[in-house]
Amino acid sequence: MTRKKKRRLKKVAMIGMSVITLCGISYISIAALSEASETTFSYEHYFGEESSDKDGEYDGINGEEDLNMNEEDSLPDKDDMLKSDSIAVLVNKELPLPEGYVPKDLTVPDVEFQISYFDEKKQLRAMAANALEELFLAAKEEDLNLIAISGYRSYQRQYDIFTANIRKKGLEHTMQFSAKPGYSEHQTGLSIDVSTKAIKYRLDASFATTPESKWLAENAHLYGYIIRYQEDKSEITGYAYEPWHIRYVGKTFADYLYRNNLTLEEYYEFEPSIDYANEITYDNLVDFGIDLEDVIVTPEPVTEPTEETEAVTEESEAETEATGESEAEEDRKEDTSPKGEGTKGDKPQAEDPAPTEGEEKEDVADDVNEVPEDTTEETADPEDETTGESEQQTPSGSDLDDETTEETTGAGSM
Ligand code: DAL
Ligand code: ZN
Repeated sequence: MTRKKKRRLKKVAMIGMSVITLCGISYISIAALSEASETTFSYEHYFGEESSDKDGEYDGINGEEDLNMNEEDSLPDKDDMLKSDSIAVLVNKELPLPEGYVPKDLTVPDVEFQISYFDEKKQLRAMAANALEELFLAAKEEDLNLIAISGYRSYQRQYDIFTANIRKKGLEHTMQFSAKPGYSEHQTGLSIDVSTKAIKYRLDASFATTPESKWLAENAHLYGYIIRYQEDKSEITGYAYEPWHIRYVGKTFADYLYRNNLTLEEYYEFEPSIDYANEITYDNLVDFGIDLEDVIVTPEPVTEPTEETEAVTEESEAETEATGESEAEEDRKEDTSPKGEGTKGDKPQAEDPAPTEGEEKEDVADDVNEVPEDTTEETADPEDETTGESEQQTPSGSDLDDETTEETTGAGSM
C-alpha cells in the first residue's frame, strides 16, 4: 500500500469514528430528553385522577420542584385549571383536589405569624412563600401590620375544621365560609389567611375595615396574589366575601385578574351547576366523606340553673335587646357560652346526645379546642374579649386563642 493510500484510509477511519461518536451522543441526548418530558407529564395531577405522588416519592426533575418555573410569565391555558401542581389551578366547591394530594415544596415563609411555634398551617408552596415575603415587606414599608394566620391545610385538618364548623354554626352557614375537605384552596399550599393586630388577629368582616385590608386589595396582585373571594362575586365563587383570604397565582395572572376584575371561575369560564352552593345537605354529608358522628353536637351535662346563671342569661338577653346587636353578635354569645352549643339554623342536633364513653367524648372536646380556628369569629379568641390581648401564641398558650381566629366573619363566619 502506498503512503498516499494509507493516509486516505486513516482519514476515512477517523471520519467514520467521528460519525459514530456523534450518532451515539445524539441518541443518548434524545433518549434523556424524552424520558424527562415523560416524567413531567406523568406527574401532572389532573382533576379526578388519583395523585401520582401519594407516597411523596417524587422529588422533582433534577431534585428541583420546578414544575411551574415558567408559569409566572404567561397567562394560563384552560388546561391549567385542572392541574393540581399548577399555580393557576382552580379548586372550588365542584373541583376538588385529587385524593391524598399534598404539595411537594411546602416551606415556612419568613414573615410574622400569629403563632410562634411550628404548625402545618405556617407552610406554603415555595413560590407562594417567596411572594408572601415580598408582600409583607412592602406592607411593612407602608407601616402596615399584616400577620399571617393560616396557610396550608391538609385534608384531615380541613375535615376537622369543616365538621367543627357544622357542629357550631350549622351546615348552611358553614357552606358559606368553609370548604369541604378535599375542596379547599388551602390544601394547594397557595392560599393563606392574613389579619392584623388592631382587630385581634381575627378573620372576620372587621378585617375589611382596616388599612391593611385596603392595601391588600389594591396591592396584592403586584406580588402575585389575588383576593380570592370577593364581595360581589359570591354567586360565582360559591363563598361569602373573605377579604383576608389571599391566593397566589403568579404576578402576570394576578395582574390580569385584578385589572379585569375577574375571579378564577370567570377567567376559566367555569360554569357551576345550578345547585352549586347548596349541593351538600345533612342527608348527603356521607357522600362527601363526612362521618355523621363528627358533626353531632355533643350536649353538655345539664345543670340546674342557679339564681346566678339565670341572672346572667337575663342580663345578656336584655343587653342584646337594648343594643340591637346583630345576629352575628348573638352568634358570638352562643358560641362562647359555657354550653358550647350554637348550632344555628339547619337541622337541630343537640338532641343527639348519647354521650357514652369518656374517652371518645374527650377526643371530641380536644378537637373542638384545636380546630375552631376556622369557625366563627365569635368562638374566636374568647380570651381576647376579656383581656383585650392576643399577642403571638406559643404552644403553651391556649390553643383556642390561636386556632379560633381563622376564617371567621363578622357576618357570621368561618
Ligand atoms: N374559607 C375557604 C373557602 C376554605 O375553607 O377553603
Ligand atoms: Zn382562607
